[in-house]
Amino acid sequence: MRNLTEHNLTDAVLARLQECDDPRLKQVMDALIRHLHAFVREIEPTPDEWMAGIQFLTATGHQCDNVRQEFILLSDTLGVSILMDAINNRKPAGATESSVLGPFYQDGAPEQDTGADLAPGEGPGVVVSGRVTDLAGRPLANAVLDVWQTAPNGLYHMQDSGAQAFHLCGKVHTAADGSYCFRTLKPVSYAIPTDGPVGHLLGKLGRHPYRPAHIHFIVSAPGFKPVVTQLFAEGDSYLESDAVFGVKHSLVVDIERDGDEWKVAYDFVLEPVA
Ligand code: BEZ
Ligand code: FE
Repeated sequence: MRNLTEHNLTDAVLARLQECDDPRLKQVMDALIRHLHAFVREIEPTPDEWMAGIQFLTATGHQCDNVRQEFILLSDTLGVSILMDAINNRKPAGATESSVLGPFYQDGAPEQDTGADLAPGEGPGVVVSGRVTDLAGRPLANAVLDVWQTAPNGLYHMQDSGAQAFHLCGKVHTAADGSYCFRTLKPVSYAIPTDGPVGHLLGKLGRHPYRPAHIHFIVSAPGFKPVVTQLFAEGDSYLESDAVFGVKHSLVVDIERDGDEWKVAYDFVLEPVA
């Protein structure tokens, strides 16, 4: 132990985990130490580069407050959030696929019956309708679609001091036949926040910060696993290059003209709790 070198150091650090009596923590720290040491060996950062990395993480922490979570943004833009989602939400065939929650979900949206208008007096609107069913296609009467999206200015209600709380949000309940319907604003593509360290990093990497137009959902029903997902607008220019890698084929929908406004149909399929 008195003669640690770059060659035996990793084993020496791993050996210190022997006394840990929490097996999961031990497993996590063992992997973290191995991967971190391998990263440093591969990159061979200079002291200035290492300090720049530490300053980046420090700035990421300082950017966080009660409405801004820069670490989630970092995880999202590095593809880690969608990888976590894939690992934790393996779905049976036919069940609605999941996507990232994102940092702008807030619980507490107003409860709404099917038929609700989430944007009265505003437009252009889109009527979203369909059914919530189980894997066999049986309707789920007590399902709730917790919905949220940005306004046409690309901002969620909590990002916009001029917006009403829970603007364009609602917990829409299905009818007895599992059907749902609500009106909201036609979603737009928008940039994730670029004024913090994650945005600056994207810029340096030559990446754009845009997400394709989408509506967020958490669809739930008693006895079924809730699905956190999004519906994406077919034809959007950012479908192939979503800044947070959240797009899946099965979640891309045609938003069709309906007179002066728009409409879209989508059925959600939930899997039972095991
Ligand atoms: C969103 O769609 O709300 C979102 C997801 C990931 C990062 C930023 C925003
Ligand atoms: Fe979003």
